[in-house]
Amino acid sequence: MALLPICTYPDPVLRQKTEYVKTIDDEIRRLIDDMAETLYNAPGIGLAANQVGRSLRLLIIDLQLEEDNPGLLVLINPELVDGRGEMVHEEGCLSLPDFWANVKRHEEVIVRAQDREGKEIEFQAQGLLSIALQHEIDHLDGKLFIDRIGPVALDIFKRKWKKKHKEAKE
Ligand code: NI
Repeated sequence: MALLPICTYPDPVLRQKTEYVKTIDDEIRRLIDDMAETLYNAPGIGLAANQVGRSLRLLIIDLQLEEDNPGLLVLINPELVDGRGEMVHEEGCLSLPDFWANVKRHEEVIVRAQDREGKEIEFQAQGLLSIALQHEIDHLDGKLFIDRIGPVALDIFKRKWKKKHKEAKE
């Protein structure tokens, strides 16, 4: 296994819609293992393949600190089938370091995908898992959570990012 570099805003790979995974082979499974190592090392609760520079429709989630956590969830070619209700929760992202903002999402979602063996799965999720799924599927569609925050929060993000970028250059 290997740690992969995480692409951060404004890397254009984060804005491209990812491609469907046609064949789930050893190369894809190696990518999944490397992504898992990268996620646990970060640490984060979710990672999409394009966040490590691979424009493929593949994501992993592990809610680590939550009770009844089923462990690493691997979703290949995931699709949001349905969403119900509304909830607002503070989100962060490994591709937007040191920034958090409230985001409005569906409270409950139904997701269809393939697992790491290629088997079709469909399930319902609520709460933090529902949020993580919507956040990561957004990544696969080239969206970031800053696309879903209000103008005031977006302005704060832009100023913070500019300041940090400037400091990094100095
Ligand atoms: Ni993210």
